[in-house]
Amino acid sequence: MDSPLAPQWLSRPQDTAALDPKIFSAGVARNGGEVTVQGLGVTELVERFGSPLWVMDENDFRSRARQYVDAFNTAFAPLCGGVDVFYASKALLTVQVAQWVKEEGLFMDTASGGELAIALRAGTDPAKIGLHGNNKSDDELQTAISKNIGRIVVDSLSELHRVEQLAEQLQLRANVMLRLTPGVDASTHEHIATAHEDQKFGLSMTPAPGEETSVAYQAVHFAAATKHIHLVGLHSHIGSQIFDSQGFETAATRMLEFIAVLDAESIQVAELDIGGGYGIAYTEADDPDGPEVIATNLARHIDAETARLGVDCPRISIEPGRSIAGPAGMTIYTVGTTKTVWVEHGGEHYPRRYVAVDGGMSDNPRPVLYDADYTAVLANRVSDVDPVFSRVVGKHCESGDIVVNTVYLPEDTDHGDLVVVPATGAYGHAMSSNYNMLTRPAIVAVKDGAAREIIRRETYADLFAREVDL
Ligand code: LLP
Repeated sequence: MDSPLAPQWLSRPQDTAALDPKIFSAGVARNGGEVTVQGLGVTELVERFGSPLWVMDENDFRSRARQYVDAFNTAFAPLCGGVDVFYASKALLTVQVAQWVKEEGLFMDTASGGELAIALRAGTDPAKIGLHGNNKSDDELQTAISKNIGRIVVDSLSELHRVEQLAEQLQLRANVMLRLTPGVDASTHEHIATAHEDQKFGLSMTPAPGEETSVAYQAVHFAAATKHIHLVGLHSHIGSQIFDSQGFETAATRMLEFIAVLDAESIQVAELDIGGGYGIAYTEADDPDGPEVIATNLARHIDAETARLGVDCPRISIEPGRSIAGPAGMTIYTVGTTKTVWVEHGGEHYPRRYVAVDGGMSDNPRPVLYDADYTAVLANRVSDVDPVFSRVVGKHCESGDIVVNTVYLPEDTDHGDLVVVPATGAYGHAMSSNYNMLTRPAIVAVKDGAAREIIRRETYADLFAREVDL
């Protein structure tokens, strides 16, 4: 029987050994009962590299990256020419990851001086780098201008004026895209929706009360008329972990309508970036479209809208992050303590089993930040003991330190077992911390059946490394 404490979408699994291919990376399977990545067992991986452990299926990452390039170029080629796919590096960035991105023919989207430094360190062609941020420092802007990166995505009128001044001082011309807020309320968690009016990102497309023109309009005119700015195009990003294509289409329409207005004033907008945000499956409840479906629908929509408005199709770019890195990654944890509590619900009491693992909100803060759901499997063996309604928790000093809020795990899952949480490749390592002075796990990349560390595990020496005057 399903637990009355379980959310509606979660059903008691027929087979607790099953690995849902829409959630796990392509290289994951069971062999002799054990979860393997490209044939490498989780027990061996933990013996070699320690626990907890982030594992990136490098082949899976690369193939998802390529699929975006291929699908978008195929769908858009007949109408807008090629599409530039920028990998949103905030999802997961190391120098090696940046090299995978480069080798697969993607461009790099960065959102800080640090991300930019890693992209450059990986040898990314500056012309293929974009820099985002609602509050870039002068230092970050000067680096971007002097490296002549492909696009600085300017977020406000005041930043636009600053870019112009800095470029003039450097006697250079800055490549600028303008990030606009098309007023779309994307259906996702409010902390990761970014195109509605009342939030910090972007130039508003709606004139303020009493004004004739919007700040977006004023910014385009300023950028187009200014010597030290090369206006590359316009940008919109509506949010993240989005499944419904309606939001992307509405945003594209508003951007193209604006482009038509500018076109009538002889300001040609050469490029349009429609951002990232494509959702992935974290649990059985999620059913994301693949890149082919997303690309085909968007191409059809943009084709119809450019025809309706009588404008040429600009060169399109996109910025997927999560949908490339997320499904390629998983986290292996070791089980420590367990307990069962009885929870009152509708006058009855029902059991919930707590399974505590050796990581938590320091390696994945998404559950505590966004109420994000995940799933987990017993990974070092299969069990024929019945599954029980469980919650996987971490080892931090907070009751909100939840790794997987609701999941059915075999009742004998216990001390020393390994548990795998899939789909942790994006915004896990990227948002990790040393809370409670936990040392961060290593990242191991598995490629063609061989595993290697790309980020080593932190040690206590790392915790002391920034202490001054020890
Ligand atoms: N482009 C821009 C301008 C963005 O701000 C973002 C994400 C992306 C692209 C990539 O979005 P993606 O394809 O990865 O959804 N920490 C949150 C997600 C924050 C996303 C911020 N911007 C999470 O863990 O859900």
